[in-house]
Amino acid sequence: MKVTVSRKAHFNAAHRLFNPAWSADKNEEVFGKCNNPEFHGHNYELIVSVKGEIDSRTGYVMDMKVLKDLIKDTIEDRFDHKNLNTQTEEFKSLNPTAENIAVVIFDLLRPHLNETLDLKITLYETPRNYVEYEG
Ligand code: NI
Repeated sequence: MKVTVSRKAHFNAAHRLFNPAWSADKNEEVFGKCNNPEFHGHNYELIVSVKGEIDSRTGYVMDMKVLKDLIKDTIEDRFDHKNLNTQTEEFKSLNPTAENIAVVIFDLLRPHLNETLDLKITLYETPRNYVEYEG
């Protein structure tokens, strides 16, 4: 019997979407407002879901305090109030779309979780647009 537990987190970050292999016109056509050379911000809402068996000793799938601290130390401290393109190693040469951010977050968290647990990342870039990644 597997149960999913989730923790909501949040960070604000700036980005610019562009492909350096393309012309300015092509980037404008594909990425529109998100191609603004002066960057722009989003309020990212992150949901980290962990699925696994209930530990009979604790009644927990995972201690939520541990998950909360892991997300803060690994994700929020790294990305909150940062310009993703210019201030993070992860997006120096990776387009910081919601899709790529979700994959990067998954890859940062995965090594810290017990391998018996399944991980799923849900990332809202706007209240209406979100992406999901589970490896
Ligand atoms: Ni954007």
